[in-house]
Amino acid sequence: MRAERKLDHIRHALTHSEGPIHYFDEVQVVHQSLARLDWDQLDVSARIGELSVSSPLFVNAMTGGGGIKTKEINQSLAKIAREKGIGMAVGSQMSALKDESERETYEIVRKENPEGIIFSNVGSEASAEQAERAVAMLEADALQIHLNIVQELVMPEGDRDFSSRIENIKEIIHRSTVPVIVKEVGFGLSSETIDELKELGCQYVDVGGKGGTNFSRVENERREDRIEGFDPWGIPTPVSILESRSMQHVIASGGIRSGIDGAKALILGAEAFGMAGPMLKALMEGGETALHRKVDLIHDELKAVMMVMNARTVKELQGKPYVLHGETKDWMNQRNI
Ligand code: FNR
Repeated sequence: MRAERKLDHIRHALTHSEGPIHYFDEVQVVHQSLARLDWDQLDVSARIGELSVSSPLFVNAMTGGGGIKTKEINQSLAKIAREKGIGMAVGSQMSALKDESERETYEIVRKENPEGIIFSNVGSEASAEQAERAVAMLEADALQIHLNIVQELVMPEGDRDFSSRIENIKEIIHRSTVPVIVKEVGFGLSSETIDELKELGCQYVDVGGKGGTNFSRVENERREDRIEGFDPWGIPTPVSILESRSMQHVIASGGIRSGIDGAKALILGAEAFGMAGPMLKALMEGGETALHRKVDLIHDELKAVMMVMNARTVKELQGKPYVLHGETKDWMNQRNI
């Protein structure tokens, strides 16, 4: 049943990985004509708080558990992550915490990439002890806690009791020996949520905004009576990055489809950017070769923006001038942040 659900997710996520609006098109970077850098000087290494990474790009959380197919996917993703020097998050490890036989579908990621930056992933239903075990399973460099309230509510068999979640998050952050990144899965974090998270001791978020993989649509595929009102729900990723400005360390994800989008996310204030659906799509449609080429292209695009904006480092992109259009501009005009 659980294995079937994982494969359903992968199948449906591939068909619902693009929203009707590409919100990063609503962020226009103010072009600068006087270039003065040399391509070979550009340095794409980045820092996410205390983590040093050789690129701001990482493969975001997707899969694990569910048998041979997910193990193969994780192995391929981990292999590319090693070869290209990018970070990688695994999918929720909750199933492996309950069923030992699923561990190897996650452990393959560390086996394939012994030196790489790897993020563990649990839900906010996890206890601090479970979170510690998830990190130990992969000798992970950081831990993601995913918040997926809309997904759970649209999922026919989803959770309905969220009454102990905040306590769990607080306890996990308090006890963790690695950075804890609280992340959404495609509905975005608001400034109100950010304020609450800061009170819980959170210093790292991944905004997981609207505009890419849509888990309301994915779960609606699995329902008889659809709850379609949630399909357009959520905070667009560029807006959510701006809503998160008061958080110490912000990672962007949700609908990032190119290195240009990634560069825009960095300009808006993110320290790194994650991609999930597009990585999976490249791998499933064109194998490891296609994924290789995709990562190379994303890095070339990112460097092209750095070149145009005269940013020698990723950090120097932060704060470069931009203007907002459309829905993104409406949000920012109406939100008092
Ligand atoms: C996901 N995502 C996800 N996130 C998470 O924290 N734990 C998980 O187990 C999963 N599982 C998962 C499966 C599949 C097939 C996909 C495509 C995605 C969400 C993912 O990490 C990311 O937040 C969203 O997909 C938005 O990014 P993209 O896909 O628009 O780049």
